[in-house]
Amino acid sequence: MSDPGAGEFYPFIGVGPHPKPWPIGEEFDQELLENGDQRNVLDEYRYWTVAAIVADLNTKRTPLHIAVENWKHDLNIGSLIRTANAFNVGGVHIVGKRDWNKRGAMVTDRYLTVHNHPTIAEFATWANENNLPIIGIDNIEVSKQLENRPLPKACVLFFGQEGSGMSDEAVSICREVLAINQYGSTRSINASAAGAIAMYAWGLQHLSPENGNNNIGKS
Ligand SMILES: C[S@@+](CC[C@H](N)C(=O)[O-])C[C@H]1O[C@@H](n2cnc3c(N)ncnc32)[C@H](O)[C@@H]1O
Repeated sequence: MSDPGAGEFYPFIGVGPHPKPWPIGEEFDQELLENGDQRNVLDEYRYWTVAAIVADLNTKRTPLHIAVENWKHDLNIGSLIRTANAFNVGGVHIVGKRDWNKRGAMVTDRYLTVHNHPTIAEFATWANENNLPIIGIDNIEVSKQLENRPLPKACVLFFGQEGSGMSDEAVSICREVLAINQYGSTRSINASAAGAIAMYAWGLQHLSPENGNNNIGKS
């Protein structure tokens, strides 16, 4: 499988080789200037190195962190990370197994820091040391409704995995657990969809749409 960054999955976006004279600056990647940039990045990051993009993102990270339990190599983690990139989160935390299925991330994991915590206790210690309350996201007996619930500005949203959902130990380290209301017949939605909804709910409370980088109307 070729690298999605090479453009195979996004033939309709990107730019070709940069016309000469080339722009000057450390942020520019000579190879991209030479060959074109088909990555799924904002126009302002065209032809930039990954390191330069990360450095710029680091200047405007949000105080939101995302965590997910990973005991069974859950396929949702990649797309959860892709959404976490869209919200420019402070970090993503994989709790449990170190390896996760990278496919759905579409290389977005290169643009943020992914922390690994082998145990829930280690993750809880990290969150405590960094003054970040852990808010569980699951639809279990103790859950309150996410809708209209104030979310702390700086916090970790903690998700469970497909099938089993959040473990009891994971629930035990949460300040509270919040559920997304559902109206159909299934018990739950998948974790990456729940992640997108919860991050959006947090964003509605703490981000200003005018500061977003909505790419509407751009190629
Ligand atoms: C497929 S669910 C499995 C567990 C779920 N508690 C159940 O009863 O089926 C996997 C994960 O997605 C998230 N999730 C799915 N549906 C949710 C909902 N309605 N509200 C909050 N989180 C949800 C949670 O993080 C959950 O741990």
